[in-house]
Amino acid sequence: MCYIIVSETTGGGAAFMEEKVKLAVSAASGVESVVKGELKRLGFGETAAVRGLIAFDAAWEDIARLNVFLRAADRVYLSLASFPAETFDAFFDGVYAVAWEDYLADTARVTVDGKSRNSRLFALSALQSVAKKAIAERMKAKRRLAFLPETGSPVRAVFRIESDRAEIFLDTTGTGLHKRGYRDRVGAAPIRENLAAAMILLSDYYYARPFADPFCGSGTLAIEAALLAHDIAPGLNRRFDFENFPFYPERYLSSAKEEAKARERRERTAEIFAADIDGGAVELARRHARRAGVERYIRFKTADAAEFSSEAKNGVIVTNPPYGEKVLDEKRARELIGTLGGVYKKLDNWSLFAISRDAAFEKAFGRKADKTRKLYNSEKECRFYEYFSKREKKEDGR
Ligand SMILES: C[S@@+](CC[C@H](N)C(=O)[O-])C[C@H]1O[C@@H](n2cnc3c(N)ncnc32)[C@H](O)[C@@H]1O
Repeated sequence: MCYIIVSETTGGGAAFMEEKVKLAVSAASGVESVVKGELKRLGFGETAAVRGLIAFDAAWEDIARLNVFLRAADRVYLSLASFPAETFDAFFDGVYAVAWEDYLADTARVTVDGKSRNSRLFALSALQSVAKKAIAERMKAKRRLAFLPETGSPVRAVFRIESDRAEIFLDTTGTGLHKRGYRDRVGAAPIRENLAAAMILLSDYYYARPFADPFCGSGTLAIEAALLAHDIAPGLNRRFDFENFPFYPERYLSSAKEEAKARERRERTAEIFAADIDGGAVELARRHARRAGVERYIRFKTADAAEFSSEAKNGVIVTNPPYGEKVLDEKRARELIGTLGGVYKKLDNWSLFAISRDAAFEKAFGRKADKTRKLYNSEKECRFYEYFSKREKKEDGR
């Protein structure tokens, strides 16, 4: 089935919506497998990631669903075209061939970003200008406008050129998905919300196990654990760029939010603990948890990580200990990794997952990790150190 939506805001222009769309979800390096797992749990079957982009067929409704539900992804893109682009003329023609008048309001403020790899066309600012010009020319011709006022909502068009082939996307997300909206003040060296979620999804945590972050800072890991434990969607309290798309029906966002609400499991009992030596950080973490609607699921404490102990079995620590120049000097930071190693040794069958830039982490911790993987925290290369408890399988199958 195909249908046509005549949009009021585009001055009578028609957006032609086919039953299926091509979407692409971007994820940070090292996080692609986590996002693929999320997509599978959301019903998308097997997907493949190519250089941080996971592309697949979906329904129009999924633009809203994915933006609301995905925890570890960066952005959701609507794929508009794919064509060979060995010259600027071919690139211009390919961008011009997209029916932009179906997607954009006359007043849209279009910005263009892109990447090129292994291709003849690689001058990004020239490519941006060419794409912007092609979009403007098409809009003017199809809408019979002398000029584009650009007074409306911002829209981001994105190109990716790989081996002389260009793909054109519309960014449906806008501000990256890591911005959930609950973190309104900045702590010392906070970790991005979607990286925190990815770390938890990479760990063997699920709601029936105790969770702890003894270096909680502004609370991100504990808050993301609480959202996950109670199946609370991360995108319920923010806006997305697709809300400004004249062709995109509002009801898709309302039904994604209804679906998210229906999936919530607030009745679950989860034991989530967050502590920091800095009382100000703990207050900030509490504030953020309140804003995220999960304060009541987390126990907060101002405490030295050295004091952390638990009678509980089979818990999970997921943490981001201080490292280097930003929070502490390197020597002290390394001592704290040793402290964490000592704390971990006394816990009964817990797992521990820590992200660190310290290449000597395992030595300082006092034990070789069962597994390590490369992750990026604020563009800086880190390693994720994984220490598994003896119980292997998660009850929810992850
Ligand atoms: C890298 S930051 C954690 C950032 C946190 N993941 C976030 O998203 O905001 C490290 C935290 O460790 C805390 N810290 C430093 N020494 C500590 C200690 N001995 N015990 C507990 N926390 C400590 C710092 O106050 C800082 O908030």
